[in-house]
Amino acid sequence: MRKKVTVVGAGNVGASCAVRLAQLELADVVVVDVLEGVPTGKALDILQMCPVVGVDVNVTGGNDYEPTAGSDIIIFTAGFPRKPGMSRDDLLWANYDVVKATVEQAVKHSPNAVLIVVTNPLDAMCHVAYEVSGFPKNRVMGMAGVLDTARFRTFIAQELKVSVEDVVAFVLGGHGDTMVPLVRYTSVAGIPITDLLDEETIQRLVKRTRDGGAEIVKYLKTGSAYYAPAAGTVQMVESILKDKKRVLPCSVLLEGEYGIQGLFVGVPVKLGAGGVEKIFEIRLTEDEKAALLKSAGAVQELVNVMAPKLAQIRAAAGRS
Ligand code: 2OP
Repeated sequence: MRKKVTVVGAGNVGASCAVRLAQLELADVVVVDVLEGVPTGKALDILQMCPVVGVDVNVTGGNDYEPTAGSDIIIFTAGFPRKPGMSRDDLLWANYDVVKATVEQAVKHSPNAVLIVVTNPLDAMCHVAYEVSGFPKNRVMGMAGVLDTARFRTFIAQELKVSVEDVVAFVLGGHGDTMVPLVRYTSVAGIPITDLLDEETIQRLVKRTRDGGAEIVKYLKTGSAYYAPAAGTVQMVESILKDKKRVLPCSVLLEGEYGIQGLFVGVPVKLGAGGVEKIFEIRLTEDEKAALLKSAGAVQELVNVMAPKLAQIRAAAGRS
């Protein structure tokens, strides 16, 4: 039997995820959205792409969660995107309600699914999904590190005029202005970038990576990036469905790792059939550690703001 992946949200990120999932023939796809007709129409369009691409998957869409039953993975993309001048954190309350409502509905029908959160502010929304679902921590994660890393890899490859495939980059921390591109672990075919680029250039690329989302928002004006976020999400899906055990930076619940307690923060993890199968704790310099803790602090601030609501969710579920 084919695997099943549900994509919650038929906007640009959700639809791009559905297209890529279908193109890679990874699973049957169900797209859900509150908008009338849109998920059904987009799903039908993607389904009609399949004969041309040469893949056999079913793609359906609608407003109802019933057809999502028994999903292996559920991707949450629904929510409001940023507009120019907004930070991801400005979306907290608008997207809290969306993520809470959609996770509640989705997990009822797929109690064994792995949840991948894409909605911003990413790390904070992972907390909402974790509390609402009551799922074990290995089955709740956020997509951000793959995207942030992809941006860093792109800029390094452009600068050096080498293949993006040969650039291995590393970005830690929350998906926000305080993310931590780790230069020391970034290399081109094994050659540290510090041997290939001067410090000023590296810092310029680090800054462009940190501002990578905002750079696109500035151009699009009415929304944020979607092709790269969708590709990043589907890379995580592929590693889980095929049990590839790829090591990818994802937002996961830390319970003491890196000295961080009870917070979703981006770190390298092994993704396989069991979801998050291992959290890799790498040795950091004092400066890197300070940057990571600063980034975690930014996530903590949002979690503190949501704390009373998260406590209510736990209490209502008898988990306080
Ligand atoms: C980005 O960085 C949408 O947060 C996403 O582009």
